[in-house]
Amino acid sequence: MATHVADNERLERELAQLMEVEKFPPPEGFRERALIGDLSLHADAERDLEGFWARQAAELLDWNDEPERTLDESNAPFYKWFEGGRLNASYNCLDRHVEAGRGDKVAFHWRGEEGEERDITYAELHRDVKRFANALRARGIGKGDVVGIYLPMVPELPVAMLACARIGAPHTVVFGGFSPDAVRERMEFSDAKALVTIDGARRKGKTAPIKDAVDEKLADLSSIETVFVVEHTGVGCEMRDGRDVWFAAAIEAADEDCEPEELDSEHPLFVLYTSGSTAKPKGVLHTTAGYLVGVAFTHRYVFDLRPDSDVYWCAADVGWVTGHSYIVYAPLANGATSVIYEGAPDYPDKDIWWEIVERYRVTILYTAPTAIRACMKWGAEYPAAHDLSSLRLLGTVGEPINPKAWLWYHKVVGGERCPIVDTWWQTETGHILITTLPGAQEAKPGSAGTPLPGIAAAVVDEEGNEVADDEQGLLVLRRPWPGMLRTLYKDDDRFVETYYERFGKTTYLVGDAARKDADGYLWILGRVDDVINVSGHRLSTAEIESACVSHPKVAETAVIGQHDETTGQAICAFVTLEGDLEGSDELTAEIREHVAKRISKIARPQRIIWAGDLPKTRSGKIMRRLLRDIAEGRELGDVTTLRDPTVMQQLEGKVHERQASGGGD
Ligand code: WTA
Repeated sequence: MATHVADNERLERELAQLMEVEKFPPPEGFRERALIGDLSLHADAERDLEGFWARQAAELLDWNDEPERTLDESNAPFYKWFEGGRLNASYNCLDRHVEAGRGDKVAFHWRGEEGEERDITYAELHRDVKRFANALRARGIGKGDVVGIYLPMVPELPVAMLACARIGAPHTVVFGGFSPDAVRERMEFSDAKALVTIDGARRKGKTAPIKDAVDEKLADLSSIETVFVVEHTGVGCEMRDGRDVWFAAAIEAADEDCEPEELDSEHPLFVLYTSGSTAKPKGVLHTTAGYLVGVAFTHRYVFDLRPDSDVYWCAADVGWVTGHSYIVYAPLANGATSVIYEGAPDYPDKDIWWEIVERYRVTILYTAPTAIRACMKWGAEYPAAHDLSSLRLLGTVGEPINPKAWLWYHKVVGGERCPIVDTWWQTETGHILITTLPGAQEAKPGSAGTPLPGIAAAVVDEEGNEVADDEQGLLVLRRPWPGMLRTLYKDDDRFVETYYERFGKTTYLVGDAARKDADGYLWILGRVDDVINVSGHRLSTAEIESACVSHPKVAETAVIGQHDETTGQAICAFVTLEGDLEGSDELTAEIREHVAKRISKIARPQRIIWAGDLPKTRSGKIMRRLLRDIAEGRELGDVTTLRDPTVMQQLEGKVHERQASGGGD
């Protein structure tokens, strides 16, 4: 133990010294060996945007029919990419590799939570996908039908997604950490015809029933004609006659021949729900060709991918967009070998990630800053106990990374030999848009880097004029890109209103604040709308508020994001109770549990502040800015526009009283 303490003290000193370094060029030798060692791709795209993407599309994908036209801007913001092209995503992810004699190559090293291991080759994955595609067809599911998927990180998850893609049935995956209520809501919105789920899920040695819990919520949802159930934990579940089918039995009974549907470039590939400014989640729609070109292109060049020698691990969950793009579609399209890990980063112990890196000789690791901060907190002794020398490149995604976490990642995990790519993108953008090319550009800790080739990012003021260097403004994208969302599912109006109303139909409003420095590097400052980013998970304040007020004792709630050292932001709820009810620890627990049930455990307020009343403007709008000031102990901003300024004094009193009694959080 004593040596750990000494080591950690030394590490702290070394990190403090590194804090002085502003720029990290590609490590020695990396540039020479990199796929891209200069900015020629950027220059190509600047010269001829459409020609650039047309070349990528031809190089990266196999087509049934080549596209006739690269970009159609005539009906902006409803852009179309690669018109006239026909292709199939599952063919591009599987068949073509098997046909080229790479069937025995491992697609996924799957690692279960209790240490189980399964190496799944391209040929095996291909076979299962074809069979499950036939099983879907046998239940009457075809082109255009939406299939819901609610699974933890099991091998059946990519199988289900790719089988959907094979027959042209858009999938809508619900993150396994979301509640059955959230599943129901999403299935209902999207009129899903089938659902793929699981008997139970494992988490840190415990098993939770999933199928039975979902069933309670699906009972009267008539659109769902079939429920496929993966048997994973043996917890057992009810199977409804005529509707429910065991996944394994369905595959077993299905034929192995299954021709992929030839689909138009713009055929919907999936809908993924994400949080927006209102309580109703947005169904982000991605289509086939542009999305695949975008993910394959970025995966190859941002991660400097060598499919023949790299072992790539994106430690996200497939239920989020990062997993869709960079666990499933991009690595498979590029013929890579990846790791899929079912479990938590601290089970059975806090070194499990590093054990996995050592075990599979992982060369590229892609994760979120929040995970890095958690590892930092646990201590450098966990990574130090393993051989991490296989790593050659590191990536981060999901939220701004603070320089200290960046440096820790660089030093402790990367051994100072691995470039770090900080990748900025969104569910809506489909793939990475801002980062550094690891062999061509310097990294600056805390900055995501520059727009990728062909991407026109700018920082503008409220009127849409570009602001000066180093000034804060709104991040916008002024040119379309292949993997952009095409619309919000069944809600074109909301699509236009959310992204293309503020600055016109050719300027995409990102929803993030940013500033650009004199080198053209972008520093992302966080969301400007009512979206909170907890551990890289996007949550809507409105959605959490609506879950809170559905508790019978709650009259009104305002939710804000509060700075948090580990999770980036934490959820803080100001709650007004019904009648003269008094707040208590029991009630705090009750409300937290209630929100977990309605949305997810991740959406539980970390802190609840009882409020006699909430600060509102004369028109009744809650002033969150003031609540943020209060929660973070800052001096209050202007309160003169409040309907009742005394509300703030009462609130401040409450917060102080609570902190004094030691019960703050
Ligand atoms: C934030 C995740 C800073 C940003 C892929 C964005 C980031 C939101 C970064 C999208 C980054 C993502 N640096 N902030 N490298 N990457 N963000 O849809 O606020 O879950 O708008 O997509 O995460 O979150 P989403």
